Amino acid sequence: MYECRIAGTGRYVPERILSNKDLEEMVDTSDEWIIQRTGIRERHIAAEDESTSDLALQAARSALEQAGLGPLDLDAIILATLTPDTYCPAGACYVQKLLGAENACAFDLSAACTGFVYGITVGSSLVRSGVHSNVLVIGAETLSRVIDYSDRNTCILFGDGAGAAVLSRAEEGSESRLLDHYLRSDGSGADLIIMPGGGSKQPASVATVEAKQHFLSMQGSDVFKFATRSMQVLIETAIERNGISISDLDLVVPHQVNSRIIDTVLRKIDLPEEKIYLNLQRYGNTSAASVPMALHEAAEEGRIEPGNLVLLVAFGAGLTWGYNLVRW
Ligand code: UT7
Repeated sequence: MYECRIAGTGRYVPERILSNKDLEEMVDTSDEWIIQRTGIRERHIAAEDESTSDLALQAARSALEQAGLGPLDLDAIILATLTPDTYCPAGACYVQKLLGAENACAFDLSAACTGFVYGITVGSSLVRSGVHSNVLVIGAETLSRVIDYSDRNTCILFGDGAGAAVLSRAEEGSESRLLDHYLRSDGSGADLIIMPGGGSKQPASVATVEAKQHFLSMQGSDVFKFATRSMQVLIETAIERNGISISDLDLVVPHQVNSRIIDTVLRKIDLPEEKIYLNLQRYGNTSAASVPMALHEAAEEGRIEPGNLVLLVAFGAGLTWGYNLVRW
């Protein structure tokens, strides 16, 4: 077995901003309610001619540049998304073409908001086993395409964006590496966050469109309870499985969804606020893109330094949840 490390990260958000004030014009809500209940102030929305692969491409280019690699060095591209350009072929294939990564295989990974954490686990397994040397993992979403902007329960939460990480074989003796992964799912909670229309169960029809079944629907308060519980369990599990204490963690990068979820977890475990990275106020919930976007920004802002112990934590539709523990 080889060791695997994160060699570079990248991030991209589309230009257009949708503020809470803008949403006040669209649904019965207020800037004050959204900030108080979620911490979100604004989110970015893709232009009409931008799709998920376009956002993913920009994040991928920036991660490759940081890793000092070119597209031809890539052996695999894993795109974690719930909003691929098309259901067939995989969105990752469009990214592979746009990037000119002619030596890479490409496939999508569907684990909703936990997609990037799942992707890092799969990608690092390919590197550690020696199957591949360089794997690009991207989390990218154009959630604005599946949000009903007349539904105040969901439209205030979500935004578009992309984040990426290049995984490479670590040199022997290198301290920087991925240490542990933990993935879980519970399909009995499938109905809590769902886009029911368009799949094999309810193929697209006039009736599914009229019933708004191609939009994302969510049972917010049940998901809130699941998110709070799973985030706490993930941090506690990482500590227990790795024989470390909470003070050993330098930074926790959680799925960016709601600052009240983070506050509730912080109250329950003894983790100081400065050890959590949050950027949800600027981007809202970008599903699979949220953890890699936050990871990239945290590193850019100097919140992560070489040798730091960083925990990536995510949870979402499926239900799915998981973590990656990284020595930076
Ligand atoms: O990425 C996947 C993971 N997703 C999540 O983790 C989402 C987790 N859930 C949440 O973040 C929260 O549940 C929400 C932000 C979605 C909702 O906040 P809440 O505090 O759980 O509100 P609620 O659903 O319990 O609703 C409280 C009230 C209701 O009014 P009544 O019935 O008490 O009169 C809602 O109709 O707030 C109302 N409400 C709103 N009011 C103003 C719901 N959405 C809005 C809104 N503006 N946008």
